[in-house]
Amino acid sequence: MVAGGAIAYLEIRKADALAFGLAVSTSQALRVHVAQGGEPHTEPLNAALAPLLKQGYVHARVSNRLGDMLAEANSANHAALLARLAKREHVPESLVAGGHRTLWLPSELVVQVSIPLHDRNGNTIGSFSGAYQVDAAVRQRVLSDLARNVSMVLLAILLTTLVLYPVIIGLNKGVTQLSAELMGSNIALMEVLGSAIAKRDSDTDLHNYRVCLYSIRFAEALGLADQTIRVVIAGAFLHDVGKIGISDTILLKPGRLTAEEFSVMKSHVQLGIDIVTKSNWLNGARNVIEFHHERFDGSGYPHGLRGESIPMVARLFAIVDVFDALTSRRPYKQPVPLQDAVRILAESRGSHFDPRLLDVFQDMAVELHAELAGLAEAGLRQKLQQQVTKYFLESFGEGVSSLRGA
Ligand SMILES: [Fe+2]
Repeated sequence: MVAGGAIAYLEIRKADALAFGLAVSTSQALRVHVAQGGEPHTEPLNAALAPLLKQGYVHARVSNRLGDMLAEANSANHAALLARLAKREHVPESLVAGGHRTLWLPSELVVQVSIPLHDRNGNTIGSFSGAYQVDAAVRQRVLSDLARNVSMVLLAILLTTLVLYPVIIGLNKGVTQLSAELMGSNIALMEVLGSAIAKRDSDTDLHNYRVCLYSIRFAEALGLADQTIRVVIAGAFLHDVGKIGISDTILLKPGRLTAEEFSVMKSHVQLGIDIVTKSNWLNGARNVIEFHHERFDGSGYPHGLRGESIPMVARLFAIVDVFDALTSRRPYKQPVPLQDAVRILAESRGSHFDPRLLDVFQDMAVELHAELAGLAEAGLRQKLQQQVTKYFLESFGEGVSSLRGA
């Protein structure tokens, strides 16, 4: 490949040198006739230029120092080439001080040459310029060589790609698998933490599973982005994780809490924040944990935030959390009938709950309740697994398959 490129380079260099050498030797004679005072010797100048046309030049010209033409020779057999050259800058700026350049035309390869002419004292008295037509066979060799060179480069690229592609795909698959496993571990951590407090609070994971499924459907109905729905899922799982730090006497007390006990109970929000702050991934649930007891009218805790200054995911979750608390059975109470639960929620429209969000939820509450409220733990877990796979794992493609079976 390198040898091939060198052939083209050497052929062009050879043509350049030949054209330039001819011009230099001719310029010796030109200098004599231009340098003499008075009228330029047109006849000798023409005579000096004429041999160039037999040696490959198609055009040659002598000018005085002002650029006016003194003599010129054009090949009669190359009218088309001369016309094409005439359309171009005859002596480019880069060649005014002398030099040569290769010019690729559609079917010709031409070397343009320019040489300044000096008198004995070194003063510039004029210039020679010309166009040398590189032999067609040489041009063809250069072209063939360049084409071969390009083909070799393309072939090398193709072979490299063919060799590297499976390697890159393999590496990518490995990274995907590891990412999926890491995500699986994070999800398991989320489930374990959520389940730990659920078991203490009510001896089952039912509440967590249901609020999670309700929240997902609610968020989908609101048209929330997948990223936000992932926050909703983690938040629903972990919303009460801080209750791990609340004593049984308060957490499991069947009757009403005293003001002091309620104050302790409220601390579960800060405890929850403290727990998830330790993990970047779990911290995604923070907006639900921190704000799920805020109320739309500002009467909630811990911050007393009002209206839309409460994060959307927490406003959404507050509705779902109360709805499930009302409609589910607890050790100390029977479930409230669905219609009563809907009415109780409506009574807090605009006070506890965001009215716009509540309207959306009320429209779907009957259907959601019918689908999910009666399901046993296994059925809920299966539905939740489908949603977790959809929102957390499907983006990992094939790497997920092993997790699904885990
Ligand atoms: Fe809570």
